[in-house]
Amino acid sequence: MDITAAHPSSFAVIGATGKTGRRVADLLEAGGHTVRRLARGTTPAFDWERPDGWAQALHGVERLYVTYVPDLAAPGADLAITRLTDAAREAGVRRVVLLSGRGEQGARQCEDVVLGSGIPATVVSASWFAQNFTEGALADALETGVLALPAANVREPFVDVADIAAVVTRVLTTDGHEGRRYELTGPDSLTFTEAAALLTDLTGRAVQYVPMGFEEFHAAVAAEAGDDAATLLTELCREVFDGRNEAPADGVRQVLGREPRGLRDVLTDALAGSRTA
Ligand SMILES: NC(=O)c1ccc[n+]([C@@H]2O[C@H](COP(=O)([O-])OP(=O)(O)OC[C@H]3O[C@@H](n4cnc5c(N)ncnc54)[C@H](OP(=O)(O)O)[C@@H]3O)[C@@H](O)[C@H]2O)c1
Repeated sequence: MDITAAHPSSFAVIGATGKTGRRVADLLEAGGHTVRRLARGTTPAFDWERPDGWAQALHGVERLYVTYVPDLAAPGADLAITRLTDAAREAGVRRVVLLSGRGEQGARQCEDVVLGSGIPATVVSASWFAQNFTEGALADALETGVLALPAANVREPFVDVADIAAVVTRVLTTDGHEGRRYELTGPDSLTFTEAAALLTDLTGRAVQYVPMGFEEFHAAVAAEAGDDAATLLTELCREVFDGRNEAPADGVRQVLGREPRGLRDVLTDALAGSRTA
């Protein structure tokens, strides 16, 4: 049976169970669009480790949102993105939006592959997600009371993933964004000490930021996730926590014509469980 024929779609989201992908798919569906949600457990499935399944996953898709794991700066990401854009072109995809990491030099090559693919394309380059504190890698801090990172006293303009999803949805559904790179951040920059104080304030439970050295961080991640993941994450932290990303950018305003949401508002809603998109 042709699974894709049974589920015709014009939009597809790769990483549709993730923090931004799920929200983009929800927004598109709320707008009346048909969306093919793609991840390893969907039907059809999409697995970055199994390119032989990509043609079927993309069959019939016109507009595509791409989130790559583990990160566009990881070894081999450029090859995977090249193969994906080849498969997308062959499938007849006519618009693609790529999520990237702000300030990551290694991701730039993948952005260039997508922008040069011949498919009308847009890059959204995001700062650290505000939701990392509530549904991502840092959510443990709410339980342990310890927010440990090699970020010294750098400031970060944490971005609301709902703002990212709103931008991606607008770019997928309206014209005029081809060839653009939008930098998406929150409205103001906080240190991790200030973010921990905010979490303490909002939850009533003490959360403390503990700055780590890079070697100490590498060893801690390696013990949990292995050496490759530890090296990737440590080098990403070394790169993006050097001050380059401290200034907020205006990508949300450029696309949506409004200001992005700030960390306090985002965390207040997330902790209350009142906002998912
Ligand atoms: N987190 C941040 O602060 C941040 C900031 C800027 C940019 N980014 C970028 O955002 C992207 C997503 O990062 P995240 O950690 O936030 O993601 P996430 O929310 O954890 O979502 C990851 C998604 O990828 C899917 N996935 C995992 N392994 C896969 C595989 N082998 N093949 C296909 N799909 C797979 C997951 O679905 P299943 O497990 O269901 O397959 C899920 O839908 C990355 O490119 C990251 O660099 C993140």
